[in-house]
Amino acid sequence: MKHIPVLLKESVDILLAGRKVAGGEGVVVDATFGGGGHSRSLLERSATGVLVVAIDRDPEAVLRGESLVLEFTSRFRLLAGNFADLSPLLDVAGIDKIDGLLLDIGLSSYQLEEGDRGFSFQSEGPLDMRMDPTRGEPAATVVNQADRKTLTGIFRDFGEEPYAVGIARKIVETRIQKPLLTTRSLAGLVEEMVPSYKRSRRHPATRIFQALRIFVNDELYALEQVLNSGLERLESGARMVVISYHSLEDRLVKRIFRQAAKGCVCPPRVPVCGCGQKQKVKILTGRGLRPQNSEIALNPRSRSACLRAVEFL
Ligand SMILES: C[S@@+](CC[C@H](N)C(=O)[O-])C[C@H]1O[C@@H](n2cnc3c(N)ncnc32)[C@H](O)[C@@H]1O
Repeated sequence: MKHIPVLLKESVDILLAGRKVAGGEGVVVDATFGGGGHSRSLLERSATGVLVVAIDRDPEAVLRGESLVLEFTSRFRLLAGNFADLSPLLDVAGIDKIDGLLLDIGLSSYQLEEGDRGFSFQSEGPLDMRMDPTRGEPAATVVNQADRKTLTGIFRDFGEEPYAVGIARKIVETRIQKPLLTTRSLAGLVEEMVPSYKRSRRHPATRIFQALRIFVNDELYALEQVLNSGLERLESGARMVVISYHSLEDRLVKRIFRQAAKGCVCPPRVPVCGCGQKQKVKILTGRGLRPQNSEIALNPRSRSACLRAVEFL
């Protein structure tokens, strides 16, 4: 099992072209270390004066990264934590401004393929889904304790699931007899609730698992936090790259980048600007970069990826 980094060359090319990094110095933060593919490439392709700081909230990812710390010694630091806390994490590490920030959000293949993490309905395991299993409640608690209305809201808001009402009702009926504690028991229930003629190529449980994972890990909140604090920490000429894997994340990234790329928002008839809003960034990627067919053929998990990047003015 290995995680194949997505849009690797494209993302690293953009980060290395940031003003200070191109000059051979500065700090680049990889806030989603995962299997370390992007961090390794950043370290190998940048000058020795560039410091790479990686973050991951999954203790197993941090453990896996120890060998990279030994290999690159003082050029590489690996921090355990949630990127929602980017600013405090950087403060503790004694870092003020940064020259690059990479977010390759979502799950690594390690997380998806380890049955006991509970992220995938393809393998049997406990319904956990926490990226950091030492914090918060596992998905089983939500599935077995949340009321019908809350479950419906989770499935609708975070999974855009058309059968949210029926699936939530079935969960509440079923768990009275027997709690739903495993990935396969939940996937089986969802399968029963989605009519076969309505099924696409995706497994009918895909959206429900995505919704629970986003809820359990408070993913959209974390993303909004890191995008905003990242924008505050970037130096002039620094770059931020975000790779997202579904439309909820991508919409959020697009909205925050567009907002930061806007200057004054006063109506055109107002002679003097009263809003005080200044353009902070330039958008580098227009409608977003997608993987080439050759990358998708090699790594089907990359197919939904969309990369957006900005440069701080
Ligand atoms: C798609 S993987 C990154 C893969 C990595 N770029 C590579 O090439 O190996 C996403 C990683 O981000 C981590 N992650 C997701 N949300 C996070 C958050 N809020 N804070 C810190 N790490 C997070 C996950 O635990 C996972 O290891």
